[in-house]
Amino acid sequence: MAKLIPTLPLETRCPPFPLRQLSGFWLPEMILSGVAAVHTRFEPRPDDIFLASFPKSGTTWLKALAFATLNRAEHPPSDPGHPLRLRNPHDCVSFFELPSALSESTGGAWEDVFEALPSPRVLTTHLPYSLLPERVVADSCSCRVVYVCRDPKDALVSGWLFTKKHTAATAKGAGGDDDDWLHVLGYWEESRRRPDKVLFLQYEEMLRDPATNVKRLAEFMGCPITVEEETAGTVDTVVELCSLDSLKRSKGNRSGTTNLGIENASFFRKGVAGNWRNHLTPEMAARLDEIVDGVLQGSGLTF
Ligand code: A3P
Repeated sequence: MAKLIPTLPLETRCPPFPLRQLSGFWLPEMILSGVAAVHTRFEPRPDDIFLASFPKSGTTWLKALAFATLNRAEHPPSDPGHPLRLRNPHDCVSFFELPSALSESTGGAWEDVFEALPSPRVLTTHLPYSLLPERVVADSCSCRVVYVCRDPKDALVSGWLFTKKHTAATAKGAGGDDDDWLHVLGYWEESRRRPDKVLFLQYEEMLRDPATNVKRLAEFMGCPITVEEETAGTVDTVVELCSLDSLKRSKGNRSGTTNLGIENASFFRKGVAGNWRNHLTPEMAARLDEIVDGVLQGSGLTF
């Protein structure tokens, strides 16, 4: 794989990272060595939970919700010292392909980082379903995957604005070609084939009814909300803790950067559905809808 990387098609107009095309998907070049490493050396645990998304589709929110829900006994969501009030969600839930990518270049032992995490481990990935390690997606593996998708028009605009912040005006977007909706389609199809292993969430639906989605998430992750918790308002407190406003205000997000040098604050912008209307013409939107509809045709998934 290391020898293959420099031969893959290169795209440099989508900062902050140069991209390479692997198996039809544009991925940050810097993670490719990590992808190869997790394929050969990652040892899944049966209760591992993967949070998956296409960039700018609600990854940060999903990380916060999963972390707050899963750890609510140790860290009550009303706690003023809750980790999500002090740290960026990306510091609370690690990316799957990143530690291996970073340590492949520095020679560190990324396996130890994952090994040290308490079970159930929660790891985030932007990898398409088809590029997850076979050991994770095998029918015999009980690892679970939660995917969040978003109207591709909003994900595109969000990615474009994010990218523009990191570069000159030449930025063309967060991804390339068809990979947003092919990414979505891969997880969608798997969620239909194995609904007990892959939970498919929609960003717009989460905005409309966050409480129901927190309960679905809790149930799926194996830590259902009890009647007592429901009565005590736990779900609402998780929703509030993880809301855009609350995370935006939190100490950990007002300053600082992630380990890739991206400003923590830049992960929180408007967080609404339909913001694409302020940035795309009706013709651009119709063209994109047409392309997406073509790819999703017959899948049962619509936006
Ligand atoms: P906008 O740019 O449309 O506002 P990701 O986390 O995958 O990078 O996605 C970023 C998008 O999710 C941004 O969308 C951001 O504002 C939004 N977002 C971040 N935190 C959120 C939250 N707690 N609730 C709702 N949306 C959130």
